[in-house]
Amino acid sequence: MPTAFVTGGGGALGRGIGRALIDKGWQVVLADLKPEHAEEVAAALGAGATPTTLNVNEFALAKAAIDKAAKDFGSLDALVNCAGGTMALRVPKGTLVENDPEHWDRMINVNLFGTFNCAYAAAPHMKAAKRGGIVNIASGAGMRGGPPESRQSGAAVYSATKAGVIAFTQALAQELGPHGIRVNAVAPGRNESRAKPLAKMIEMQQSEEAREPGSGRASPLPRPFGKPSDIGDAVAFLLSAEADYITGCCLDLTGGIRLH
Ligand SMILES: NC(=O)c1ccc[n+]([C@@H]2O[C@H](COP(=O)([O-])OP(=O)(O)OC[C@H]3O[C@@H](n4cnc5c(N)ncnc54)[C@H](O)[C@@H]3O)[C@@H](O)[C@H]2O)c1
Repeated sequence: MPTAFVTGGGGALGRGIGRALIDKGWQVVLADLKPEHAEEVAAALGAGATPTTLNVNEFALAKAAIDKAAKDFGSLDALVNCAGGTMALRVPKGTLVENDPEHWDRMINVNLFGTFNCAYAAAPHMKAAKRGGIVNIASGAGMRGGPPESRQSGAAVYSATKAGVIAFTQALAQELGPHGIRVNAVAPGRNESRAKPLAKMIEMQQSEEAREPGSGRASPLPRPFGKPSDIGDAVAFLLSAEADYITGCCLDLTGGIRLH
């Protein structure tokens, strides 16, 4: 059974990714800063899910957790860098100048350093096996530049970190490709998170519309927002044999929200 290490595995998207991978026969290690998040999701997913506590900002911890997963399960076949989201951001609402540079560190540390740390720790295992897959969770904001104020706190810096994740994906795909390791990214748009279930997303979009008609961004499809399973299915596909010739891509999972 192949093993995937999913950071932020206790989050909403981590849960969707874990579900999709387990359904496809993977063993999944859910690594999260908050042990209660990882344990809750592992309990919900059942057989095939193993929770562990990890702060991806700390390289030594990331390396120890990834080495342990590879040892415990006999291989480390995939890494999904999903840690982040609202909990990691913890920035006040506002534009660049309304924010405090001190808050930028949190986004840069988790979104960039966390991704670098885990990729660095996972690559030697995959190189030794001459195969493996890495999927980085970027964002529509990293493909286009996310909108400011209520829709995304600290949007400019968040967007820059996610654009960095996309460029990192493209560069790492070239470095690791000769070793049989594929590196891809996915870019969610408006999806659920722990702090933002579907009802809250609908409420946010309605208040945007009330404040400025036309500003409430939603998909042109009949379903306005993404689901964690949309992200999970895409990640499982990118890690599957069917995606054997796909590397360095960033799959747009915004449901078309990015287009307007
Ligand atoms: N939900 C969306 O609409 C959306 C859109 C675009 C991109 N994303 C990205 O998807 C990823 C997951 O977001 P989510 O919506 O599931 O958020 P979430 O808040 O539901 O889950 C994030 C999880 O990451 C964990 N985490 C935070 N900092 C960590 C750290 N330093 N080390 C390890 N774990 C840490 C949290 O404890 C939490 O369980 C993030 O990278 C986010 O930027 C989400």
